[in-house]
Amino acid sequence: MSVGSSIGIDFGTTNTSVVRIDKNSYGEKMTILGEDGEFPFVSLLAVLPDNRVEFGNKVKSKRDEYSEKHQLVSSLKSLLGTNKKVVLNGIEFTPSQIVTQYFKCLKQYIKQKHGIQIEEVSLSFPVDFTAKARFDLRLAAERAGLKVKYLVSESTAAYLATCKDVKGLSRIMVIDWGGGTLDISILESEGSKLREVSVFGEKIGGDDIDTELAQRIHSVINLKTADSDKRLSFSEMPASQ
Ligand SMILES: Nc1ncnc2c1ncn2[C@@H]1O[C@H](COP(=O)(O)OP(=O)(O)OP(=O)(O)O)[C@@H](O)[C@H]1O
Ligand SMILES: [Mg+2]
Repeated sequence: MSVGSSIGIDFGTTNTSVVRIDKNSYGEKMTILGEDGEFPFVSLLAVLPDNRVEFGNKVKSKRDEYSEKHQLVSSLKSLLGTNKKVVLNGIEFTPSQIVTQYFKCLKQYIKQKHGIQIEEVSLSFPVDFTAKARFDLRLAAERAGLKVKYLVSESTAAYLATCKDVKGLSRIMVIDWGGGTLDISILESEGSKLREVSVFGEKIGGDDIDTELAQRIHSVINLKTADSDKRLSFSEMPASQ
């Protein structure tokens, strides 16, 4: 068994989990690193008018206030691999540059609150991530000063984190359904060996369910609005209505 510490980051569309694994000759210990005593971290970023950046729970807990006064970026992971540009305070960011801002906040928070200086990480990625999305993810981390040791598919990473609970099973299907993606791994385990027999992934998650529900509510509100001039399109309707 190799001795030492390693950090794993599961950068999610909605939530981001960070764990530290310490190994010594007696075994290993996993520590979950969180925010304000809670975990996972919230995958939200806010850019203030003076270009300062805030992230996580602080933004989530004041989401309404922040979205009025500052520029809020949610589901930043879903930008990776695309050519979409995000303009914040008049400055154009590529998807990996936005994610770098998030990773920088995460790294700084963990240094300040947990006293851990992260330099090297293993990252998980959705199995349907394109080569470009994987490249963007790695680039985002490295620009934030996080050297990437391993990239592991999310559903396989979920198995690795919980394999002690399903000890004895030789063929396992892991389903990880999140805010942006559905990931499935079929794995075969034999002794200390683990083989990915098959992986399947699709870009569908809680974000899509939220959008579907919002669109249905929007149609109901419009149906109840007798005056057709007062009916608003989906994008015009304020979230508070
Ligand atoms: N009790 C619940 N019932 C249904 N959906 C929930 C519940 N709690 C959270 N969710 C939804 O689960 C999603 C978040 O799950 P999770 O934290 O696994 O996603 P993620 O890891 O951030 O995303 P991904 O892995 O797809 O990038 C959100 O869409 C959220 O709305
Ligand atoms: Mg996830």
